[in-house]
Amino acid sequence: MALIRQIRPGVEWVGAIDWDRRLFDALIPLPKGTSYNSYLVKGSEKTALIDAVDASKAGALLANLKAEKIDYIICQHAEQDHSGTLGRLLEVYPQAKVLATGKCLELLREFGLLPNDRGQEVKDGETISLGDRTLQFIHAPWVHWPDTMLTFLPEERILFTCDFLGSHLATSDLFAADEPTVYSAAKKYYAQIMMPFRQNIRKHLARIGNLQMDIIAPSHGPVYSRPAFILDAYLDWSSDSVKNQVVLPYVSMHGATRIMTDYLVEALIKREIDVKRFDLTSYDAGELAEALVDAATVVIGTPTILAGAHPLALYAAILANALRPKTKFASIIGSYGWGGKMLEQITVALPNLKLQFLDPVVAKGHPREEDFKALDRLADEILAKHRELKIA
Ligand code: FEO
Repeated sequence: MALIRQIRPGVEWVGAIDWDRRLFDALIPLPKGTSYNSYLVKGSEKTALIDAVDASKAGALLANLKAEKIDYIICQHAEQDHSGTLGRLLEVYPQAKVLATGKCLELLREFGLLPNDRGQEVKDGETISLGDRTLQFIHAPWVHWPDTMLTFLPEERILFTCDFLGSHLATSDLFAADEPTVYSAAKKYYAQIMMPFRQNIRKHLARIGNLQMDIIAPSHGPVYSRPAFILDAYLDWSSDSVKNQVVLPYVSMHGATRIMTDYLVEALIKREIDVKRFDLTSYDAGELAEALVDAATVVIGTPTILAGAHPLALYAAILANALRPKTKFASIIGSYGWGGKMLEQITVALPNLKLQFLDPVVAKGHPREEDFKALDRLADEILAKHRELKIA
C-alpha cells in the first residue's frame, strides 16, 4: 500500500515509517520508533529521489514510487538506513544515476550497494537542473559520518538534511506540529548522534544559516515548516554554555551508594541545582544522553566490585566519553569494602571530556557522618563552580 504525502506541489514524501523499531546500531534506544524519509522532487525535465530507505522498508518505498520515472537518486549518506534499498532501486530504475559525494560513493561500493558505472560524484556547491527546478549540493562531513551532504532546492526554499537536524520519531504528522514532543526526540537524537561532532555541527549551522529556507526536510522524523525551531535548538545544544544541572548516574549493590546518591541529590536540590538521577540498572540510555547535552556537572555513583568500578557505572562513563558532552566538572561517589581501583577506572574512562575533577566521596562500607559531611562539601563545591560560570 502506498503512502505519499505532498510537501509542496511536485515535492513529495515517499519514505517509510518504522513504528516498531526499538534499537538502532544495536545501541541507541528508539522508544518512539523512527522514519526513513525519502523525497521525490519533480522538475519539468527530470525527477530526483532524495535518499532511499532501510532495506527492511524497501517494499514501502517501491510502492510509493510506482510508475515514477527517476533520473537521479541523490544519496546524501551511505549508512544503510538511507541507502539499504539502493541496489534494488538501481535494478528497478536502470536509467537512474546515483549522485553523491566521492566519499559516499566509495562507501556505497564498499558496502556492495553500488555498481561502478552507476555513481556520479558531485562537488560541494555543485548544482544540477531538473528543468524548472535546481538541486544544489552542500557537503557536510561529520554529521556524523565523513560522507554526508545536504541538498537545497532554492525554488521551493527547502533544505534536505539527511541525518542532520532529524529525530527518531514515528508519527503520523508529516510536519512537526507537536513541537514539545519533537524537541525532546530531536534532542535525544542530537545527543546520541551529533553531539560527538559538536564543533562540525556549529560550522555547518553557520553555513546553512545563510540560506533562504522555508522548510527543513530531514531523513528521520517530521519535516520542519518553521526552520528556526530546530536551528535555534541546535545553536543552543551545540553552544559552549552549560546549565545549572548535575547528571547523576549511579548503581548500588547493597544500598550504600544509593543512600549516598539520595543524600547528594537532596543536598544539590537545597542549593537550587537541577539534578537528573539515573538508576543504571533500569534506565534509557537516550534519556541519559539527552541529560548530558546541557549539564555543567556529572557525578557517577558506583560501588566496588571485583576490585573495580561496577561495570554498569563504567559503561555510563564510556558512553559519556564517546558522546563528548560539554560537561565541565565531574566527581565520583560510592563505597568499597576492602579496596580496589574504582576511582582510577572511572577517571581514565573519560579522556575525551575536558573535565575538572572534584574530590570524590568514597565510604568504607555503609556511609557515616563524615561521609555525609563530605557529600555536603561536594555539593558546596559544585555550587561554587556553577557560580563561577554564572549559571547558578
Ligand atoms: Fe540515519 Fe547515519 O543514518
